[in-house]
Order: sequence, then structure tokens, then C-alpha cells
Amino acid sequence: MSGSALYDTFARLPLAFERGEGSWLMTANGTRYLDFAAGIAVNSLGHAHPHLVAALVGQAGRLWHISNLYEIPGQSRLGERLAEASFADKVFFTNSGAEALECAIKTARRYHFVNGEENRVRIITFEGAFHGRTLATIAAGGQKKYLEGFGPVVEGFDQVPFGDMEAVEKAIGPDTAAILVEPVQGEGGIRRLSLTAMRKLRELCDRHGLLLVLDEVQSGVGRTGKFLAHEWSGVNPDIAAVAKGIGGGFPLGACLATEEAAKGMTPGVHGTTFGGNPLAMAVGNAVLDIILEEGFLEDVARRGLLLKQGLAAIADEFPEIVEEIRGEGLMLGIRCKVPNAVVQKAMREEKLLCAPAGENVLRLLPPLNVSDEEIQDALGRIHAAMQAVTAAAEPADG
Ligand SMILES: Cc1ncc(COP(=O)(O)O)c(C=O)c1O
Repeated sequence: MSGSALYDTFARLPLAFERGEGSWLMTANGTRYLDFAAGIAVNSLGHAHPHLVAALVGQAGRLWHISNLYEIPGQSRLGERLAEASFADKVFFTNSGAEALECAIKTARRYHFVNGEENRVRIITFEGAFHGRTLATIAAGGQKKYLEGFGPVVEGFDQVPFGDMEAVEKAIGPDTAAILVEPVQGEGGIRRLSLTAMRKLRELCDRHGLLLVLDEVQSGVGRTGKFLAHEWSGVNPDIAAVAKGIGGGFPLGACLATEEAAKGMTPGVHGTTFGGNPLAMAVGNAVLDIILEEGFLEDVARRGLLLKQGLAAIADEFPEIVEEIRGEGLMLGIRCKVPNAVVQKAMREEKLLCAPAGENVLRLLPPLNVSDEEIQDALGRIHAAMQAVTAAAEPADG
């Protein structure tokens, strides 16, 4: 027994917060932490943003839930706004990223089914991917540590090395339905698919009649300085999953698709009780009010550059700790030479929060509206943390 009534699935830090405001989190005794993890890219507008609070509280006093048996005006509105801001024509709302991916996978398979090609169910995915923790999404992610002990692996996923276009081409067969990829792998360690590779995937999909499905759960909704990260490549997907930042902290996900790709998703073939409920829609619309404001995304890109330049200078100064700085916009990674947990702990001692990732990377995912001053403040704390790690590694005098 661990002494807790909770499942022991999370290795939690012994740290709790009572309140948040913008990019800051406060403990019960008033200690302030600069939050550059933002709930793992979720608190896209920081904590307790007044516009989001007003939207949620306002809706809470009117109507919480009615089910998808009825029209939900906030849902139609958010759907139209997401379609207008993206490649998509159609939207299905969910409560999480994994559910958005489930919908994306079902949409892709169903497309081929209604085209009379029932055999086309296989989906090509990439090593290092993370698509969620449902049975299908752990199969899509293909990571042994998440699959072990959970019985038969959901069939239909063929995994190839990340960014290896030759391997993708070889993996395409008569039963292939789609290619599923994160434009920037988050959990995998802020690994960005090259723009050339993204264009190549589009070309392969067009050539073989496959659907291009993007997991933009972490990279989407402004995180990289574009509404969706694929926009940097100039090519569009057929289907994309978003979540995290779209709810700004309220559980919300969405599967976006073109009209053509969504044509198999007819009445009754898919559903959800909670997805798209009025509370989530009120918050999602409020998030878009700000993220789609003129100049907001340009500002994310500019602040991302400011942070990346500062990190590059730190990397130059501490080559024995930092291997590489990578990422785009405000989705940045510090690849460490020493164990990332050591650097993360040193940052936490400087009251700066970040999130670990694969390949010994630390992710910096601040709120998208983080200020220039807060970025400078964070850089100062990261610098101090690097000094502390260096000092701890030096042999003691005498
Ligand atoms: C790229 C990506 N896809 C899917 C998911 C799963 O989202 P959720 O945890 O909301 O189910 C995550 C979560 O970290 C993610 O980063």
C-alpha cells in the first residue's frame, strides 16, 4: 500500500499549488513559481485569465450540460470558428486528446469503408510518437512501456522511424488507410518533422489515396506561432486532432477534418456524452477570442524566438550540460547531457517549472501570452540552475 487512495500511476512531486495567476503558480505558503510547463501545454493563456473565468462562470450560471440530443449554439459557433481558422470543414468535439485521436483514427478508416475499400484500415505511425493512453492510441504510439501488460495490441498500426521517408514509402501497402504524425513530437522530446518531410508525406498520401492525419494535440492552437503547426509547411492534412491549449485548462479536444475525409462519419456511427458540452464550448470560444486576435500568433513566434535565443546563449555557456536547443515558437526543448531530472530539479529550486520529455529533453511550454519580462526572468532562473548543476558536478576543494 502506498498510503494513498489514488492509483499509483503518477510519480507526483510533493508540491501542491493553491492559486494561479497568468504565468505564475502560488503554493499555500505564498511561494511563487514561474510556470513554463503550463499544465503540459494546456494553460495556453496562463492561469485564471479574466476572459476565460468570465466565460466559464457566466455559462455555469445558465446551462452546464444538455447532451448532443439537442442543438448547442456554442458548439456550432466554436466548430465554425475552428473550421474558419484551419484547413477543416467539419469538427467533432471530445474531452481529451486521446479521444480526439480515436475520432481521427475512426474517421480515416470509415472514409475508406464508405469508399468501398474495407480492407484499408492500416495506419503508418512513427517511433517516439505519443498519441494518448486509450487502447488504440497506445497501439498507435507503439511504445513498449505503455503497451506491456494490457493484452492484445489493437491491430492496424505500422511503425517506422521518425522522419524516415523511405521507410514510410516501403510501409505503404494495399491495406494502408492513413499516415498519422505529430508535426512536432512533444513527449518524444520536441522533435520536429522537417517541413520537407511533411510535404513528402502529403505527396505520398495523394499518390496512394491515403489520408494525412496530424496529431496537433500539443503543437496546435498557437503553440508554435501558427494556429496549427503544419501551416509552417504550406501543406494541409485531411484530419487533425487538437486538445490541450484549445480549452486553456478546461478539458476539451476536437477532431478536425475536411468534408471529404469526414464523409463516412454519418449519424450514429460515433458519439460522446460530454464532448462539446456548453461549459467547454464557452471556454473554447473564449480561448479563440484571444488566440485569433490580430497579431497574437505573430507575438507567440516573436516571444518564442526571444526565449530560444536566450536558451542558445545558455547552451553556449554550459556545453557540458546542454546538448541542443530545439523546437518552434513556445514549444521548446533543452536536450541535456546530464540526466534531465537533475536539471529539472535545479530549475525547480530556482522556482521555475518545466516538463520532462524523451531523449533526455526538458520542455519549455509557457503560456502563449507570457510576457517578455517573464521570459527574461525565466532565462535568469535557468542560468542560475545551470550554475548550480555545474557547481554540484565540480569536485569539492581539498
Ligand atoms: C501529441 C499528443 N497526443 C495526444 C495526447 C493525449 O492527450 P490526452 O492526455 O488529453 O488524452 C497528448 C498528451 O500529452 C499529446 O501530447
